[in-house]
Amino acid sequence: MTAADLFPLVLLLHRTTAALTIGFFLWRARQSLRDPLFTRQKAMRYSADSIDTVLFLSGLWLLLQGGHEARAELWLQIKFAFLLGYILCGMAAFRFLKELRARLIALVAALLCFAAVVLTALTRGALFGIG
Ligand code: HEM
Repeated sequence: MTAADLFPLVLLLHRTTAALTIGFFLWRARQSLRDPLFTRQKAMRYSADSIDTVLFLSGLWLLLQGGHEARAELWLQIKFAFLLGYILCGMAAFRFLKELRARLIALVAALLCFAAVVLTALTRGALFGIG
């Protein structure tokens, strides 16, 4: 089996883990608004980290095997910028912020960043007038 044969499977894995990661995020967000310590439990953190690791590794594989040139493809850079926003806002909401209102704002910002990551990936940047 060649890398080209594997490509559709890894893309499917990438899309599936993207759906899983946001599903899990929404569930953790709901629970954490009731109990702020919920998302700091080890099992929660390990599960989220495992899904995110598969998402990241499959993305890296697609990047390397898909013949992408991250430095030349603006849509990938936009995607990574929103991805960073998603990670930072998620960390703020789940780990660092204590006040409910601040956590809610960080959660909404994380969700908006996630939506932008997906839209950028699906439209290859056309949404932002490139690609
Ligand atoms: C929150 C994190 C992420 C989400 C939600 C996400 C979402 C997606 C989606 C939905 C697609 C499919 C687009 C299509 O069907 O045409 C895609 C493609 C892609 N993703 Fe991600 N992704 C994420 C993280 C990453 C990371 C960390 C990398 C690289 C290290 C990456 C690299 C890629 C590449 C290269 C493609 C295009 C594959 C191709 O050539 O068709 N992604 N992403």
